[in-house]
Amino acid sequence: MKQTLLGLLLSGQDYLSGEELGARLGISRAAVWKQIQALKERGIQVEAVQNRGYRLLPGQDILVEEIWFCRRKTNVLGSQMRILPQVDSTNHVLRLWAEEGAAEGAVVVAEQQTAGRGRRGRTWVSEAGKGLYFSVLFRPDFPPTQAAALTLCCGLAVAKALRRMGIDALVKWPNDVLVKEKKICGILTEMRAEMEAIQYVIAGIGMNVGQETFPEAVVDTATSIFLEKGVSVCRMDVLEQVLEMLESVYTQYQKGGLAAIREEYLSLSATIGQDIWVLGKEPFAARALDLGPEGELVVEKEDGSCMMVVSQEVSIRRRPSGKESAGSSQF
Ligand code: BTN
Repeated sequence: MKQTLLGLLLSGQDYLSGEELGARLGISRAAVWKQIQALKERGIQVEAVQNRGYRLLPGQDILVEEIWFCRRKTNVLGSQMRILPQVDSTNHVLRLWAEEGAAEGAVVVAEQQTAGRGRRGRTWVSEAGKGLYFSVLFRPDFPPTQAAALTLCCGLAVAKALRRMGIDALVKWPNDVLVKEKKICGILTEMRAEMEAIQYVIAGIGMNVGQETFPEAVVDTATSIFLEKGVSVCRMDVLEQVLEMLESVYTQYQKGGLAAIREEYLSLSATIGQDIWVLGKEPFAARALDLGPEGELVVEKEDGSCMMVVSQEVSIRRRPSGKESAGSSQF
């Protein structure tokens, strides 16, 4: 990749003088200064010290493509990456890109979404600087019947990445990640396929990262990385951890199917073994027993019969009502 001013500042341990930066980029010191101003306009804080030069202020929570490409450890996921200041929905932007031919592993990240979407037509509140909102493109060889389990792969990868950060995250079937029963991440998976073959699957992942508080109505049901750890984390670090983990889980799933991730998924499940409500038009009580062959939820109804839940949502049975909440999907 072409060397950039930001790339040089990122790789430097200490201050770099305007002269050195200019020499390495083949531009004048005045042009270096102009580029520094442009970085500042993008919200990137650059410290300038007389007789020493420039450096990036450490600990900044910046989401920019140069940082991703400087630090990326994945092979496939994020080999194409677009980080945008504002979009309607990263799933929508990635779908348009997929139609134009984006490759397997392409990722769209947004600082802010104006029409972030959750499951079942709900919204995903996506304010700038607080959460991590991104979508990943998969173009797998396996048949459409195996696509649903990709949501489970994403949930497992997010839970494992959070656990690496010291957060006791669990997966709630099929598309949430919880910490101490509160939602920290939601996943919206969409697919374009023919009868026999998948064209692409888009997995949209929304993570609560820097929220210090939540609205009163959801304070008991939502949490964030900041609230769990008590310290701020950079969203780029979270993105790196999740994409690395997702690449590993996806590779396992591609090679060995559900059997390859099953044990680990079950060990981190907040759902299996629980009394649940299966939601929908007519919610019913059941007990979650196991995962089916394609990632379905095997449940035992109160009359003792067993069935597989494919696309309905479930809630752990604690509340008296089995009705799902309308409106925001955040929580
Ligand atoms: C849910 O819990 O209902 C799923 C929420 C998924 C939200 C993410 S944020 C990134 C991507 N873009 C969207 O519009 N939605 C997903």
